[in-house]
Amino acid sequence: MSEQERDPLAEEPKPESEANPSEPAASDVSAASDEYPAAHEHDEHDHDVLADVAESSDPMETKDLLHVDFFEGTWMRISAVVIAVFFIAVVISAFAVGFQLPGVYERIDPTTLYDEGSPWADPGLRELAPGKYELYIRAQIWSFTPNIVRVPAGSEVTFYVTSADVQHGFKLQDTNINMMILPGQVNTLTAKFKNPGTYDFVCHEYCGQLHHTMYGQLIVEPEQVAETEGETD
Ligand code: CUA
Repeated sequence: MSEQERDPLAEEPKPESEANPSEPAASDVSAASDEYPAAHEHDEHDHDVLADVAESSDPMETKDLLHVDFFEGTWMRISAVVIAVFFIAVVISAFAVGFQLPGVYERIDPTTLYDEGSPWADPGLRELAPGKYELYIRAQIWSFTPNIVRVPAGSEVTFYVTSADVQHGFKLQDTNINMMILPGQVNTLTAKFKNPGTYDFVCHEYCGQLHHTMYGQLIVEPEQVAETEGETD
């Protein structure tokens, strides 16, 4: 067996290998690589490839691999600055300016909106605390209920909206209240109204033939008027 294995390589058998035919296999292999130029050369070639790879991990080579073009580097820095600016803008708008995403308050079966005891059967304004209100607005083709709401200036109003039929929209002019009204879902947003004025709200999601007639008004009364009304009562 060992004779057969060695034969193809042993074209020029040396006297030593013939002298020790019963040498262990391990020393045979080392002897072969030492004795036969072809095998030895092959080993050296392998070593050369490894040396090439080792050379490429040389610090100078690495520097070349990571070379960043001047313009590429410039755009990378500009991109990093833009991302940082956007991140700061998001943090400021969320915590200082009070931007909010419309939140999904709850899921609701739209066929139960008119059921007795449902807050949607008779939606409207409820005062939770002085100057703090919740306002339920039900949308249906092609109206809002209620469509005229009055609150005193300085009020904080939390809007809850849902639809009895199709998809509508709720956009309160001159505020950042802007949300979808979806059947089966109650959406909510909160806003504070410091200044008296009239804020129109419109359906801004096409909902059929009379979509354009779907609107209402939130009227913020001057605080003094509200107080006067309170005194005269
Ligand atoms: Cu409702 Cu458009």
